[in-house]
Parts: sequence; structure tokens; C-alpha cells
Amino acid sequence: MKLIVANWKMYLTLRESIALANKVTRYTLHVTRYTIVLCPSFVAMEEVAKVIKGTQIKLGAQDVEPEKRGAYTGEVGLDDLRELGVEYVLVGHSERRRMGETDKLVNQKLKAVLKSGMRPILCVGESWKIRRSGKARGYVADQLRAGLKSVTQKDLKRVVVAYEPIWAIGTGRPDTPKDASEMHMWIQKIIRDISIFANKNRDVPILYGGSVNAKNAGTFLRAPGVDGLLIGRASTQATEFAHIIRSA
Ligand code: PGA
Repeated sequence: MKLIVANWKMYLTLRESIALANKVTRYTLHVTRYTIVLCPSFVAMEEVAKVIKGTQIKLGAQDVEPEKRGAYTGEVGLDDLRELGVEYVLVGHSERRRMGETDKLVNQKLKAVLKSGMRPILCVGESWKIRRSGKARGYVADQLRAGLKSVTQKDLKRVVVAYEPIWAIGTGRPDTPKDASEMHMWIQKIIRDISIFANKNRDVPILYGGSVNAKNAGTFLRAPGVDGLLIGRASTQATEFAHIIRSA
């Protein structure tokens, strides 16, 4: 089943998040073709969890602190997320990497999420400069190998990867479905290289993210190798998101 992940980033207040969660719950009532995951802000998470309770919508987090508990001012820990019923956690989003998150920390977070029984969504993707220089594949492969370092074969099956070219995020300039598809095939190959189960059953789904909207969502979802979408801005507008779900 394809996965559609809504990353609300810091676009919405608590009240707006509750209102949107209510709307999404209503119009996805009969959607069975997709797994839909909402990633609200930490502040909105508890209330959104109440709204989606009993529906097929799942709760996701935008980030996490990998240390168990303790003196980590301002951070949000794994136990809190688990208590709220979070099932998916974004790790290594480029907006966090931009603030100094290293591959090593991304790997720590990913392993901590797995250990807590949740599923990490490992975000990878190159800058425009790298894409232009023809080195995108190597760059993404390095991010994958570093992010998945020393993850057990069993745990690997619970990982989700999101390919999000940085230059396509929030710019209104998405990758072409053809190029995205080629990168997804490449990512499949890298995963096959590090995995004994060879990802035959697509146990590691690969999502595309970066300026997905109602117009292009269907084309991306039909592109070979694309197992779902990670959507930012367009997922925060109720009608746009509804169109995406329907067009998909
Ligand atoms: P966007 O963001 O859909 O607004 O481009 C995608 C993301 O960062 O996950």
C-alpha cells in the first residue's frame, strides 16, 4: 500500500492543526488505498492524536531526540512519542541537516527510533549544486550508507526512505517524475547492496518529496519505483490535500 506522509512543519498553530486533522479525517474516511501519516508540530501532536484515534490515519513526528531521557533542554524524546501513539518519525530532513544535523546524528536517531518500535523515515537528497555537477547519485548513496550504518537486517525492513532533492523542497519546482524514478531505482540498488533480503517485496518503501501538489501527485505516484509521497506545504491546505488523495 502506498504511503502518503504529510509534513506540517511549522506552518500551523495548534488550533489550525486540530481543524485540519478533523477535515483530513472526514475526507479520508473511505480511503483504503493508502496509508496516510500526519506529522504535526510537537505541540499539536496530542490533540491531533485524539482527532485521528479510531481512524486509519497514523501519527508521525517531524524529529526526535535520540537520548532516552535526561538533561536535554528543549528536546522531545522517544518515550513521549511512543506514549502519544506515534508510528513514524522523520529523521534527517534537509531542514534539520541545514541546521547542523550530521549523518552520524541522523544514524543515531534512526537506530533509536527503531529500538523504540517506531518506523523511521530517512530523508535524503542533494542540493542543486550537486545535482548540476552530476554527483547526485554518489551523494545520496553516501547519505544512505551513513544513515543506515549498523542497522540490523531485521530492523532494515522497518525503515522508510524519502528522496527529497533539496532544491525541490518548498520551491514549487519539483523534480521530474522520470528523474525521480531513476533516483528511486538507484536507491533500491543501494538498499539491495546493504541488505540480504534484497528488498524484493519493497520492504523499504521509497517516497518522493519536494513540491508535490494536487496537479503532479498522480504522476509521481504512478512513476516506477515511487512507493509514496512526503508532502509539505500542499498537505497543510485541506482541499489541496484532498485532491492529492483523490488524484493519487
Ligand atoms: P514541500 O516540502 O512539499 O513543501 O516541498 C516537502 C518536505 O520538505 O517534506
